[in-house]
Amino acid sequence: MNAMNDDVWKKLYEDWERLNNTHLQDLYVNNPNRFDEFSFTKDDLTIDFSKERIDSIAWKNLLDLAVSCNVEAKRNAMFSGKHINNTEDRAVMHIALRAETDDGYMVDGINSFELVDETLQRFLTFADLIRNGEIRNARGEVFTDVVNIGIGGSDLGPVMSIKALKSYSHNGPNLHFLSNIDGNDFQDTFANLNPASTLILIASKTFTTIETMTNARTAKKWLLSELSDDEVGANMVALSTNVTATSVFGIKKNYVFGFWDWVGGRYSMCSAIGLPIALAIGEARFRELLNGFRDMDQHFRSAPLEQNLPILMALVGIWRRNVMKAPTMAIMPYDQRMDRFPAYIQQMDMESNGKSTTVSGEKVKYETAPIIWGEAGTNAQHSFFQLLHQGTDVVPVDFMIAANVTHGLIGHHEKLIANFLAQSEALAFGKTKGIALNEMLDQGFDLEKATNLAPHRSFEGNKPSTSIIYESMTPFVLGRLIALYEHKVFVQGAIWNVNSFDQWGVELGKVAAVDIGKVLEGDASIQNLHVATQNLLKKLNKIRKK
Ligand code: F6P
Repeated sequence: MNAMNDDVWKKLYEDWERLNNTHLQDLYVNNPNRFDEFSFTKDDLTIDFSKERIDSIAWKNLLDLAVSCNVEAKRNAMFSGKHINNTEDRAVMHIALRAETDDGYMVDGINSFELVDETLQRFLTFADLIRNGEIRNARGEVFTDVVNIGIGGSDLGPVMSIKALKSYSHNGPNLHFLSNIDGNDFQDTFANLNPASTLILIASKTFTTIETMTNARTAKKWLLSELSDDEVGANMVALSTNVTATSVFGIKKNYVFGFWDWVGGRYSMCSAIGLPIALAIGEARFRELLNGFRDMDQHFRSAPLEQNLPILMALVGIWRRNVMKAPTMAIMPYDQRMDRFPAYIQQMDMESNGKSTTVSGEKVKYETAPIIWGEAGTNAQHSFFQLLHQGTDVVPVDFMIAANVTHGLIGHHEKLIANFLAQSEALAFGKTKGIALNEMLDQGFDLEKATNLAPHRSFEGNKPSTSIIYESMTPFVLGRLIALYEHKVFVQGAIWNVNSFDQWGVELGKVAAVDIGKVLEGDASIQNLHVATQNLLKKLNKIRKK
């Protein structure tokens, strides 16, 4: 990729020539210590890479790659507040949102702890006062419901976390999330709510996002259908960096909870964007969540390369993507309450590293972010796992599960664990045609039928996966897991030499939507649009009788 590390890449491709012809089964047979060598533990968290198609030599070369790409120096630049988001000339300091006083993070010459701590305390206190009914509407009534209006990074983190932490969620108001500009989403969300007892949170870093602002304006009208102009302010809160716009919208100054331009939207869950989470789980648990993030931040900042979990995960991802050439990877939490975790990581990873221009503006000559997708197990096993086992593409998987759960239902968790273990085993080791044939013969199939069926009932195996296990799903564990993926994404961006913290790729479509919107509103001529769009719009207008 650059003169410095061309040699390392050459070695990695040579490693793949060797490993591409080696089955995971043989890697395991030839190295009985494989689990010990390729699994890493930090407290109750274990990450097992032993079912990745990798060996000690490739592992060492991957570590050399991290060194030759200056991963540690780039990490230190982020932690020291350098403007590593070069296209927007900003520091990248989401780590400061979960810091302690003595972490000493400085942003643009200011101790970030002081900035963060005041807002943190303010929004956590606000959340607890809503939860216990002390903050009420202008008529003195308790809020029964809260609707968070936001999209992308201003929606996915709270949606995902509140579900994941349901065991810790009690005594708060009912929480609802509205993200899509589709009016049906609005109607469905507000269908059974009462304007007087509903608090609206408008979550938008920029306070300009078209979906959020359209929904927010409609929500304000809905509030005003019941409340007077004097009363409505008590039912609206803003979570935003754009204080001017929140005031123009009519949000009271003390109902605005801010954050800073050095917090990217997809990294903003620990800022005021996390207010809905605090409404669900309360201040103490929210602080545990922050501690989990910080725990992984500290580990990433100081653990040696060979033990540094986000760096190791990132290197395995580089191996999958750039050496094995896998175009996608799947995240499979064996935890129904974590079913939005893949979507959350999808935004974090794909919006960060879905880039094809280097930091200095050249076109990249290698693959960058894989397509991230996934679903909770075991449901996924009964939908798309067929392709993972027998399809023509290799899809590396991150499996994850908690050792303990709280529901107490007999037999359920044992079966969940059994499935979690079975899938990575089946993917890795498969089943030969010979074994499939003999099994059928043992079951009394005649030879001809068994021979015909054997190719269909055999599994090549050799499909890579990583298994992640932890004690139980707590706020601390969730924070630690998210930060693990955040820093993994950082390391991969450092290796690919892209800016992981801008998202110019979403702009073109946004601008086009505004232009097309003007035509739909009758404020511009259809002739202004691309002919391809004109034709589709004419068809739509005909059907709409416009
Ligand atoms: O369009 C992409 C994006 O800018 C994301 O990066 C962001 O999380 C989302 O839109 C919402 O942005 P905002 O919080 O400014 O409304």
